[in-house]
Amino acid sequence: MTLEITPSGQACGAEIRGVDLSAPLPVEIVAGIRAAWLEHQVLSFPDQSMSDADLERFTLYFGPFGEDPFIASIPGHQHIIAVQRAADETAPIFAESWHTDWSFQAAPPSGTCLFGITIPPRGGDTLFANQYLALEQMPTELRERLDGKKAIHSAKNAYAPDGMYGEADKASGRSMTIIASTEAQATQMHDIIRVHPETGRESVFGTAGYITGFEGMAPDEGWELLAELYRWQTRPEFQYRHVWQENMLVMWDNRCLLHMATGGYPGHARLLHRTTIGAA
Ligand code: SIN
Repeated sequence: MTLEITPSGQACGAEIRGVDLSAPLPVEIVAGIRAAWLEHQVLSFPDQSMSDADLERFTLYFGPFGEDPFIASIPGHQHIIAVQRAADETAPIFAESWHTDWSFQAAPPSGTCLFGITIPPRGGDTLFANQYLALEQMPTELRERLDGKKAIHSAKNAYAPDGMYGEADKASGRSMTIIASTEAQATQMHDIIRVHPETGRESVFGTAGYITGFEGMAPDEGWELLAELYRWQTRPEFQYRHVWQENMLVMWDNRCLLHMATGGYPGHARLLHRTTIGAA
């Protein structure tokens, strides 16, 4: 078994062939995938016939399962959630805003694995933004305003009862089972510039949305800085657009990326199964 790795040519991302993820993997292949993941941040594995058990086994090669709050897991698989949308669904697209998965947790997940089961013929791409690059190329003036700052992360804008997926969303006919809760109001601090624990490289961590402000900064001033940072860190030159296929697994590194879902597939269903890789 030899990994064939083809970089996307964009700001991050690579495709991997030459491996069968439906069977247990030799340690040297897992090591090769981990090295490619750290180098390219997003890996896609096309033409994989994977069961939920295969997805769980693959995830556990890279760390423990993460804890997935606010979204019901699929029956019989506590650590898998379904990212799904029915063909006739009109609810706002799930996760169609830049974010880092569960960055409001004390120990956010290192990575996420997402397996494409039903993929629309067009649309539904996932966008990624490379936060190593965003930091490396950041204007000095912006970087100086961020250095040493702690960002306040919270799930409240999304998953609190008055958040985007809260009470008001219940009438939307959403096919995903989202469990909004007052627990989403909790906050957690993380350095806005962090050193990646495996690569040793610095990157920006998180963005406006789950980040609601900065420690010790007035809300207005915090929002102004967040908005400027958001405009910078999501620039097109830092992005990779991932186009899905059925039976494709994608894994990404939450520690140095932002990502967001996109729409553009009305009249078509979309279903993917997702696990998170917990912090080691
Ligand atoms: C997610 O943020 O986990 C979902 C991404 C997608 O649906 O493309």
